[in-house]
Amino acid sequence: MKNSDQQTLRQVTPEVDKYPVALRVLHWVRAVLILGLIAAGWTMTSLDDSVTAKFTQLYPLHKSFGLLALLIVLVQLAIRAVSRLPGPAELPAHERVLSHIVHVAIYALAVIVPLMGYAMSSTFSQSDGVTFFGIHVPELLPKNDAWSSAFALLHKTLAYTLLALVVLHVLGALKHRFFDKNPKADVLPRML
Ligand code: HEM
Ligand code: HEM
Repeated sequence: MKNSDQQTLRQVTPEVDKYPVALRVLHWVRAVLILGLIAAGWTMTSLDDSVTAKFTQLYPLHKSFGLLALLIVLVQLAIRAVSRLPGPAELPAHERVLSHIVHVAIYALAVIVPLMGYAMSSTFSQSDGVTFFGIHVPELLPKNDAWSSAFALLHKTLAYTLLALVVLHVLGALKHRFFDKNPKADVLPRML
């Protein structure tokens, strides 16, 4: 290819060095939501059943914000599918592969964890149902307490697995910013 052709091609398809603004905003909104939901989930389940706010306020709020987190991740995935994204980060191959696996696993769990929460609440025979900020969400699954316990175990285990992956993700971002010798390894500006 001639030099002039290469130049024209670059003008038509310039490299993007940041995620699209919608994905950057949603990344941080979802980060706060998911960390908040894990903290709230852990706190509310530790409260004594005699605390009335536990079931009248905290559980419904956890479910509503959990469904909001699910909606956000679905919107994020849709935007991602139609957007031009920055190319692979300038990292050693093993770190690039690891960060890719962690991103895919976070996306997968950010969808599965709220679905397990919904399935647990919907199948539980004593549940008041699932509401999204006051709006009743259809209950699609039959009542079955044995299934509900299995979904509860999955919801809990996968939520704390998600937390572990996020910790790894944040440690990775900090390492690239503060400890890597190559300044181009710092991927944080791509998300700011
Ligand atoms: C990304 C979204 C979500 C995250 C990260 C999350 C996280 C958690 C965590 C960490 C717990 C505490 C588990 C424990 O230590 O026992 C919990 C409990 C719970 N979550 Fe979620 N959750 C999410 C979405 C949802 C949704 C959408 C629902 C229902 C519609 C839901 C319903 C519940 C219920 C009912 C409990 C209490 C379970 C029990 O009493 O043992 N969660 N959640
Ligand atoms: C709080 C500290 C956090 C920092 C400093 C941070 C930083 C970053 C950075 C720099 C990227 C871009 C990586 C790249 O270009 O290769 C990124 C991507 C990503 N982050 Fe975070 N993040 C944080 C929290 C979270 C949380 C809490 C979640 C999920 C619950 C999350 C999920 C993701 C995902 C799935 C991607 C991949 C984005 C894509 O390719 O569409 N992050 N993060």
